[in-house]
Amino acid sequence: MSDTITIKKPFDSHVHLRRGAMLRAVTPITAEKFYSAIVMPNTEPPIETVEQAVEYKKEILAALKNHQGVALMVSAFEPLMTLYLTKKLTPAEIEKGVSNDVCKIYGVKSYPYGATTNSQWGFRSILEAKDVLKKMEEVGMPLLLHGEVHLNENNEEEDPYDGEKLFIADVLPRLLETYPKLKVSLEHMSTSQAVDFMEKNGKDGQLVATVTPTHLMYDRRQAFSGGYRPLLHMKPLIKRREHKERVRELVKKGLPFISAGTDSAPHPESKKFSSCCVFGVFNSPVAVELYTQVFDELGCLDKLENFMSMNGPRFYGLEPSSETITLAKKDWQTSEPVVTEEDVKVWPICNTQHGLGNETVHWQVQA
Ligand code: DOR
Ligand code: ZN
Repeated sequence: MSDTITIKKPFDSHVHLRRGAMLRAVTPITAEKFYSAIVMPNTEPPIETVEQAVEYKKEILAALKNHQGVALMVSAFEPLMTLYLTKKLTPAEIEKGVSNDVCKIYGVKSYPYGATTNSQWGFRSILEAKDVLKKMEEVGMPLLLHGEVHLNENNEEEDPYDGEKLFIADVLPRLLETYPKLKVSLEHMSTSQAVDFMEKNGKDGQLVATVTPTHLMYDRRQAFSGGYRPLLHMKPLIKRREHKERVRELVKKGLPFISAGTDSAPHPESKKFSSCCVFGVFNSPVAVELYTQVFDELGCLDKLENFMSMNGPRFYGLEPSSETITLAKKDWQTSEPVVTEEDVKVWPICNTQHGLGNETVHWQVQA
């Protein structure tokens, strides 16, 4: 196998860019590695109107035009905006967003109430959002699922390791049966149950799924290796080895409805290394490299381009990038955090100071 690979510039089907100083620090990193990305709406306050999405998009583009007084070369990056499925979201807003000239809305994201970062505006169960789902089905607006059950019908918390399994067994089949034409993306799949479901029911353009580098790289032994590892703490939680192996086997199959969604989710150091570590893995500085490393380990680098650069844009009705990137098989390490203009540190995974120890990344994007 060759020691370099050239692929069309990747597409991130799932990224958190935040707002303010954090946005300005992390957005250039995503824009350097990806030509476009689906931007998650779980900011504070949430993005629940087209007007708010317009403002948010402007803020992202402004961060690329001028980063700490320096004009950046990444202005071709296109952020694709989404709305948060809150109780305030209306069918009228879906209609407004689906064909909006200024800021088309590419999807609506559902978070189960209480399950993860800024999920306090979500429904307990996606099935409660009937009118909005009906409208989305009618106009072809994709539903992006955080596919976990957090609270059961009695409002009791489920075991967090079972959240995705319960969603796949109960909620997802009912959702698809009720709205058979709804376009659905199951985000950040992490279990064998999700893999089984997608292998059976996945369909290009209709029912797709995204996979993070974190769920491909790690199982819960690493999440607790030598103690608790905050940089690997995310939702869905990193599962047992058997689950990771199934997710890896799935990407190896090269199915057209499986794509890269990094779920890069930056948080300030103070919230990660705290008595109540927030959910979220910041991986944009290493994500493209880690995916490549995993595909190399699996002996399926020939499947990398479809997964990283073709399948995501196709689901959203977009052309792939006309640019390419080249990666070389070369060991490197990262020891520095990203630092915001407010001097806040944001630690990526695979960091030699705060990662698992002394991790080495085996592929590198060439300048
Ligand atoms: O780990 C996570 N972090 N999972 C999510 O669903 C949200 C994300 C975030 O926004 O930090
Ligand atoms: Zn996410």
